[in-house]
Amino acid sequence: MKIKKAVKLVEETLPSKRYNHSIRVAETGKKMAEIFDGDPKKVELAGILHDLCKYEELSDLYQSVTQYDLGQDLLSYGSEILHGPVAAARLKDQYEIDDEEIYYAIYSHTTGRAQMNKTEKIIFIADYIEPKRTTPGVEEIRDIVFKERDLDKAVYEISKRTVLHLINKDKTVHLKTIECLNYYNLHSEQ
Ligand SMILES: [Fe+2]
Ligand SMILES: [Fe+2]
Repeated sequence: MKIKKAVKLVEETLPSKRYNHSIRVAETGKKMAEIFDGDPKKVELAGILHDLCKYEELSDLYQSVTQYDLGQDLLSYGSEILHGPVAAARLKDQYEIDDEEIYYAIYSHTTGRAQMNKTEKIIFIADYIEPKRTTPGVEEIRDIVFKERDLDKAVYEISKRTVLHLINKDKTVHLKTIECLNYYNLHSEQ
C-alpha cells in the first residue's frame, strides 16, 4: 500500500485526534529509523496504520479474532489489546500488506513481544513517546532513545511501566507483554 492511500484510509476511519496521533507516530518513527538504521518506508506505513481498528466495536474485533484465527486467549482482552492484532490481520487480508516487519509492528504495538524486529521496536516506542504524549516519565524514555540511543532499553522501560501500571489497576497482563519484559530485561543493559 502506498503511503498516500494509507493516510487517506486512516483519515476516513479514525477521528481527527487519533489520525493526528498516527501521523506523529509515523514522523517520530521515521526520525528513529534514520538514527537506528531502520527502514523509514516500512516504519512510516506501520506508524500511519497502527491504530486503524482502535475504535471498532468489541464484537467486531472478536469476530475478526475468530475469523483470522488469532488465538482464543485474545477473547479475554479488550480493544486496548485487540486493535493491534486485528488491524495487522485485516490489512494483510484486505489490503495485501504482508511485509512481515510491518505486520508484526502493527500486531505487537499493543502488547510488545520478545525478539521484536526493528520496525516493530520503533513503532512500539514511537507510539509511547510521540511529541504529544505526556505520560509521567515519558521524557526519560525519550532520552534513552535520542541520547543513549538504546532501542532495547527503551522497549524494556516501556514494558516495565506498562506492566506496573496494569498491576496497579488490577488489570490482566497479556503473556506477550510479560515475555517482552523478560526478554528485554535479559537483553538490555539497565
Ligand atoms: Fe494502539
Ligand atoms: Fe497509537
